[in-house]
Amino acid sequence: MPITIAIDGHSGCGKSTTAKGVAQKLGFLYIDSGAMYRAVTLYFLRHHIPFENDNPLLINALSEIHLDFEVCSTTGLPEVTLNGEKVESEIRKPEIAANVSPVAALPIVRKAMVKQQQQIGKNGNIVMDGRDIGTVVFPTAELKVFMTASVEVRAERRQKELATKGISQTLSEIIDNLSTRDKIDSSRSEGPLKKADEAREIDTGLHSIEEQIEIVYQWAKEIMQVSVC
Ligand code: CDP
Repeated sequence: MPITIAIDGHSGCGKSTTAKGVAQKLGFLYIDSGAMYRAVTLYFLRHHIPFENDNPLLINALSEIHLDFEVCSTTGLPEVTLNGEKVESEIRKPEIAANVSPVAALPIVRKAMVKQQQQIGKNGNIVMDGRDIGTVVFPTAELKVFMTASVEVRAERRQKELATKGISQTLSEIIDNLSTRDKIDSSRSEGPLKKADEAREIDTGLHSIEEQIEIVYQWAKEIMQVSVC
């Protein structure tokens, strides 16, 4: 039976890397929901759209945005496209990180993204990571995981990850960005970041990426065996 794996948690605690690894081991589709909010933010910045829920410019802009996922020939992973344009490297830039949480807090943006995420995941056998995947997008997901780690651990990891993309930021700039996003993501009215009651928790400061992947993979295997019986 197809299953859905929802991975939520704070910015930069290794959700995406874990989700990708688990999806690869299981042969599941991997979808990075954060990339969708980042792509919307990129569009708004490029077109000078004010981040206001009821602004007609924003409402109109949303109808002009078409997001899709295309498998990258180098990584073999699905990457977001914005109106047909590959934007994976653009959306990882600090300017997007600095603006994405206010955009993702807008109820009208969330409604549009959640609808599309539910459509993408309707057949199961998917790993999706984000903030509200286990609580709002797939509340009946068979496996829900909530990842945590101290902001220092997360910032160090993010700094290394950005460096591989040629982006240099100081630790304190990254800590500021992660902390601000955590605050906005956890306190918004719509789809706030919170642990689903039944989610299994992993402190990623205590594990290597390989261990994290293995833990979630084993949980998924257990659930898949039970659902076959
Ligand atoms: O990679 P990182 O953990 O830094 O963030 P991300 O997953 O790329 O998500 C970027 C931002 O999108 C988050 O800080 C949230 O503001 C927003 N987001 C959200 O609101 N809901 C989701 N399901 C995923 C991301």
